[in-house]
Amino acid sequence: MSRDLNVALEAARKGVAEIETYRNKNLDVQFKGHNDLVTDADIATEKVIVDVLRSHFPEDEILAEESSNGRTGTAGRLWVVDPIDGTTNFTYGFPVFCVSIALLEDGKSRVAVVIEVNRNEEFTAVRDEGAWLNGRKIAVSDIEEPARALIGTGFPYNDYSLFAEYMELLHGLLVEIQGIRRPGAATFDLCCVAAGRFQGFYEYSLKAWDVAAASLIIQEAGGVVTDSKGGQDWLLGERIIAGNRTIHSYLLEKIQAGISQENQVPA
Ligand code: IPD
Ligand code: CA
Ligand code: CA
Repeated sequence: MSRDLNVALEAARKGVAEIETYRNKNLDVQFKGHNDLVTDADIATEKVIVDVLRSHFPEDEILAEESSNGRTGTAGRLWVVDPIDGTTNFTYGFPVFCVSIALLEDGKSRVAVVIEVNRNEEFTAVRDEGAWLNGRKIAVSDIEEPARALIGTGFPYNDYSLFAEYMELLHGLLVEIQGIRRPGAATFDLCCVAAGRFQGFYEYSLKAWDVAAASLIIQEAGGVVTDSKGGQDWLLGERIIAGNRTIHSYLLEKIQAGISQENQVPA
């Protein structure tokens, strides 16, 4: 196993252990913005993860959600960390939330770890080497008919300018596909594509720390990841479509038809 993956796993597992210490405790919950929660557990977990990464790689840059300070550059070796993806679930006791860590080199994810805390599922990937769930290789689903596709998504919770089109799109999908799921943790949703549980996923308003690790896991599981126009601006572009090749194409077509050009790029 590569040293980078080893360190990412050590940091993620220590992050999970820190989250566990907050179970059944009264959380200190603050609002970062409308509907945008942060708890003392998010901040403490981020510190644990960052400390592990810094202790091994003091020269590397780190972009971590709760201390990001608006950082945008992705040059060099950059660790991208979401200490708790699914903070709303965590705060309300709904059991889907993850630790997510990616190592990027010049803007490209090289190593990825996502751990779903409640099921203790460890999703990992190394570029050009594959993707694994708890050490076993995973691959995207081979279901190709939209009518049999289970699709994950999330709903923007503070950019309501998109809502009319987003809901119209949802309606159009619901009448054609097997079903929609909205677990509430984008990293987990994306890993469900990688593990073949979902055939596709799309969401607007996601940040780099929501997508950096899980997107590599999908790619290494044989899936396709693009922005909402079919391009590669999904890391910082806040619009992502993922899936096996066929269902990704189906979703891209539906999104191109259903979402206006002005909403194809962040406000
Ligand atoms: C959120 C989750 C959610 C998605 C939101 C994200 P957070 O991340 O991934 O599924 O719909 O857009 O912000 O805030 O819980 O780390
Ligand atoms: Ca997140
Ligand atoms: Ca988070």
